[in-house]
Amino acid sequence: MAILEKKDLLGLRDTSVSDIRLILDTAFTMRQILDSPSKKTAHLAGKSVVLFFLENSTRTRLSFEFACKYLGANSSNISGSGSSIRKGENLYDTIKTIEVMASDMIVMRHMQSGAPWLIAPQTHCSIINAGDGMNEHPTQALLDMMTMEDKLGKLEGLEVAIIGDALHSRVVRSNIWGLSKMGAKVRVCAPPTMLPRGLDGLPCEVIADVREACEGVDVVMGLRVQLERQKSALFPSVREYAHFFGIDHEAIQAAKENALIMHPGPCNHGVEMPTEIHEHPQSVIHEQVTNGVAIRMAILFLLQARRNALSNDLNGLAALEAAYGFGKGPISNPVEQPKYRR
Ligand code: NCD
Repeated sequence: MAILEKKDLLGLRDTSVSDIRLILDTAFTMRQILDSPSKKTAHLAGKSVVLFFLENSTRTRLSFEFACKYLGANSSNISGSGSSIRKGENLYDTIKTIEVMASDMIVMRHMQSGAPWLIAPQTHCSIINAGDGMNEHPTQALLDMMTMEDKLGKLEGLEVAIIGDALHSRVVRSNIWGLSKMGAKVRVCAPPTMLPRGLDGLPCEVIADVREACEGVDVVMGLRVQLERQKSALFPSVREYAHFFGIDHEAIQAAKENALIMHPGPCNHGVEMPTEIHEHPQSVIHEQVTNGVAIRMAILFLLQARRNALSNDLNGLAALEAAYGFGKGPISNPVEQPKYRR
């Protein structure tokens, strides 16, 4: 069986083409389980997954929770409010506390960009990034790619227009990395105040006008205007934003016939797009959510399969050391592996 290269899924910038391929292929199998009358399987029986969300979430958290249940894993939730984070406990101590309760994988959403990269080398648990600040959201981009491949039959050669608040969006960054690695071309369109610095260094084209950005594309994807992350107003009014950057019928007509309409959700109806575009016959927004469960099942399954394969030695630690070089450099974490861990 093919095995993922890394212990964690942190971002698509550092995920190989072959691992993206493996996750997508596995997700199509998982989708069949999801569509079957009895969704219960035992692939992850006896494994524990902790959903550690420090930012709000409906789709991502619930789909990971369902994914755990459908694969037979135990899942537990921990959030900012109601946990010791509120008492000032730091990230390392929190993750370590989760780890030493014999947890196997931690799904983590954190408001700080880069937090999963900081913590992943410090724990034996597999870390899955469910969104870090304004940086990456790899599982969202994977479910987006799965939906495109499912509906359009391929990723290679697709033209994808991503329109909206690129400045604050971790979804756009993961999609730029993932889609470009898989041979698609990405166009980004946003008001100048909502374009992140350094975007021109990423594998994408920046186009100022919505209709022009949508011209001849296979996919039109909206991005939510993330008012909660804006420190000051980045556009004069919501009405003006919707007028100049909303995805309307003209934008859809500029795209290829039967182009897909996508949005990661939650959508501000009437801002990124009116309700009739959200519910348009070409919209696959609800399908994206369903595929999100399949993608998360695939990732949990593949990361655990890797863990199983590497733990065929005495207690798994030697293989981990060999694979990740623990103890070889200054990042070495001296914490002992608990004795009960196999
Ligand atoms: C996205 C996120 O949290 O980054 N939502 C999601 O996971 N479906 C996009 C957003 O919140 O705008």
